[in-house]
Amino acid sequence: KYSIKELLNNGNFFLEKKVLVEGWIRFFRNSIFIALNDGSTIKNIQIVLSKNIDKKLIKKITIGTSIKVIGILKKSIGKKQSIEIKSLYISIYGKVDQKNFQKSILQPKKHSLEKLRKQAHLRFRTSIFSSIIRIRHHIAFSIHKYFHEHGFFYINTPIITTLNAEGAGNMFQVTTMDLKNIPYIKKGDIIDYKKDFFQCKTYLSVSGQLEAETASLSLGKVYTFGPAFRAENSNTSRHLSEFWMIEPEIAFYHLEENMNLAENFLKFIIRYIIENCVEDLSFLKENIKKWNQEDNFSILDRLELILKFPFKRISYTEAIKILEKKNKKFFNPVIWGMDLQSEHEQYLVNDHFQHPVIVFDYPSCIKAFYMRINNDGKTVRAMDILFPKIGEIIGGSQREERYDLLLKRMKDTKIDDKKLWWYLDTRRFGSVPHSGFGLGFDRLVQFITGMKNIRDVIPFPRTPNNAEF
Ligand code: 4AD
Ligand code: MG
Repeated sequence: KYSIKELLNNGNFFLEKKVLVEGWIRFFRNSIFIALNDGSTIKNIQIVLSKNIDKKLIKKITIGTSIKVIGILKKSIGKKQSIEIKSLYISIYGKVDQKNFQKSILQPKKHSLEKLRKQAHLRFRTSIFSSIIRIRHHIAFSIHKYFHEHGFFYINTPIITTLNAEGAGNMFQVTTMDLKNIPYIKKGDIIDYKKDFFQCKTYLSVSGQLEAETASLSLGKVYTFGPAFRAENSNTSRHLSEFWMIEPEIAFYHLEENMNLAENFLKFIIRYIIENCVEDLSFLKENIKKWNQEDNFSILDRLELILKFPFKRISYTEAIKILEKKNKKFFNPVIWGMDLQSEHEQYLVNDHFQHPVIVFDYPSCIKAFYMRINNDGKTVRAMDILFPKIGEIIGGSQREERYDLLLKRMKDTKIDDKKLWWYLDTRRFGSVPHSGFGLGFDRLVQFITGMKNIRDVIPFPRTPNNAEF
């Protein structure tokens, strides 16, 4: 029993051997050939229906049917494939309900990406989405590989938390369905519904950074790779309410080293994908225009370009100067101290530099409390990495390791320092300079696959108004 990928990659080895494959029928040709796919690769294997296969059975198999095939692997005389399976035996696992099939995205014709999204449970069967998901897997794998090879430890931070690590009011609250099951409530107790299960308000985490910091201040180099939740009402092509984030955190690292790490890390992943996802990338390269019409580029060229040159590095103040010099009228006026809006980021990265840009030393007033304040007293050691088309893909900083300054910053920004006593502890007992960043995983998948909408690179997207399945 072999996967279709194994057979196609080792065709010569299996020649004239008896093999068993299983999969779903993609299409028929000349009523004697079946294109079978099992998800292991973008490619289909050709099954030749031989005369000894029961005619009644053949009538029952339609596009989408799942089957088992036993046959002999042969050299194919057709031009489209080098090998094929001459069937000896076929059996059906599941037939296709023809009535509902007509409405489904499994019907072999061009469907819009919006339509695919509405049948998220079936879109894994389509070439485009299965390609994206395989690439998504390889990206995740290369991330673990990079960190493992560079001495990082993978840690898990809590999803249920009492904090807002980013200091913004965009969290989902967690409550129990039924307080009766809470262990510390005894029979006869008056239930205080305000207290709930944890006896305090809890939320879904927006970031694992603060916990990761405490781990890095013992283990040296750590990273998280988990879901993050943000109740932002931003119905854009780059925001999800539930997204995946990778957050490395490194002790004894300054901002410069943090930027070097982020750049090397992104380049490693892209190189890994170019080398290990050849078939899926070339499928996307050839077909992406069908879906993302106005994108007139080659995915591979764009990925190679990222590897070719160092990322541009400019301070926030320099970025503002570039934007001010530009005659273009921005919808949001450019003033030092403002947060860079999507249109400003897009201008810098798509028009001005046409290459990834690292913007550092942002004004403290627009950044989170934990970032290290610079000697000018106005800016912090923050860095954002902007990518073509995507905009911000990474946000990071050197952290404020000085107890007094951190406490002052917390008070100034109305962060509850009592609740964060454990975080402050790390600055009491052998504090050291340290840095880290957060990479938006789904945005990286979006960049690498060239998809315009982030909803098309995650299996079950969660966005405002959309959590059905
Ligand atoms: O810039 P952010 O908010 O940074 C943090 O959360 C820090 N705690 C990271 C750190 O220093 N450890 O988020 C980091 C990245 C963004 O650059 C973006 O790529 C992604 O996470 N991101 C989102 N991706 C999809 N949907 C959303 N709603 C996102 N919000 C942030
Ligand atoms: Mg950010």
